[in-house]
Amino acid sequence: MRTAVYSTRAYDRDFLAEANRSAGSRHEFSFIETHLDVHTARMAEGHDAICIFVNDVLDRPVLAALADAGVRVAALRCAGFNNVDVAAARDLGIALARVPGYSPDAIAEHTLALILSLNRKIHRAYARVREGNFALEGLLGFDLKGKTAGIVGTGQIGLRVAAILHGFGCEVIASDPCPSDALAEAGGRYVGMDELLARSDIVSLHCPLTPGTRHLIDEAAIAAMKPGAMLINTSRGAVVHAQALIGGLKSVRIGHVGLDVYEEEGDLFFEDLSGKVLQDDVFARLLTFPNVLITGHQGFFTREAMEAIADTTIANLSRFEETGTPKHPVTMDMLAGRQ
Ligand code: NAI
Repeated sequence: MRTAVYSTRAYDRDFLAEANRSAGSRHEFSFIETHLDVHTARMAEGHDAICIFVNDVLDRPVLAALADAGVRVAALRCAGFNNVDVAAARDLGIALARVPGYSPDAIAEHTLALILSLNRKIHRAYARVREGNFALEGLLGFDLKGKTAGIVGTGQIGLRVAAILHGFGCEVIASDPCPSDALAEAGGRYVGMDELLARSDIVSLHCPLTPGTRHLIDEAAIAAMKPGAMLINTSRGAVVHAQALIGGLKSVRIGHVGLDVYEEEGDLFFEDLSGKVLQDDVFARLLTFPNVLITGHQGFFTREAMEAIADTTIANLSRFEETGTPKHPVTMDMLAGRQ
């Protein structure tokens, strides 16, 4: 299949090329650095497929432009599909593919990296020691053992985080509209969202972004959290209302915040903007807090996860070529229960 790969970085090219070689080099890739939008969609002319990432928006106008260009399948290099108008794709006859659960461990382990770094103030200690400042004032942390961790969303990633935190000796409580028997095996138990917010020392978000979870953590939710609690978001940025978060940090209601995602990350993440003036005042304010640690959507970025993403993307394209349906399709049924 001739495939236009949008938002390509060197690492995407390397992993996709290697996976394609292993599968007999049956696909041809055009690697495009820019995001997909209604203007860049025409670069897909002459391709059967496109391949996109988390911040490429596949809305109806873009899908219509792709359909005009002759594209028949869009392969997402990610699990979430909140950036896709699934009904429009169906109407326009463009099949959708995704990479479900490529490495829940990668994101779960990054979640722990944020929790431990914030708790033990590793981000501050690193800078201090490099400057010859070995004072411990301001670096006081707390033991995870015996603390209560609240997991919002017990899918593949949430369950791994639950098991790891249980291993640290935390009491693990969780909330999910579709409870899983596996939570008990991971050492956790379900409670209502109100109890989770009120009791958790650490609240970690692992639900998808849907109309029902957009701004799930808003001013009211922050007011309902245990004073001084830590909030971690490695799911999707818009699950948290960033302005409300700033309010919670200024009032010292929230003790620590770890983010791998941000609602307006599409204009920032995955680019080197170090020589540019930051235009996003909300993001800039978040960066000023000593108890906030932000990474640029790198939870997925391990060798194992990148190999799995590339292999599954190749498998999606190959299956579509053979049968007209990708190996891991995104369908209208999957939207059920997301309102
Ligand atoms: P999953 O589909 O396996 O699990 C999501 C769970 O959230 C499901 O059990 C679902 O019932 C639950 N859920 C839905 N609405 C909820 C609500 N209102 N409250 C509580 N739970 C709710 O998804 P997976 O693979 O575990 O991914 C979780 C999140 O992580 C997604 O948002 C995904 O986009 C994000 N993600 C982030 C990455 C990163 O690099 N930071 C990489 C991969 C995924």
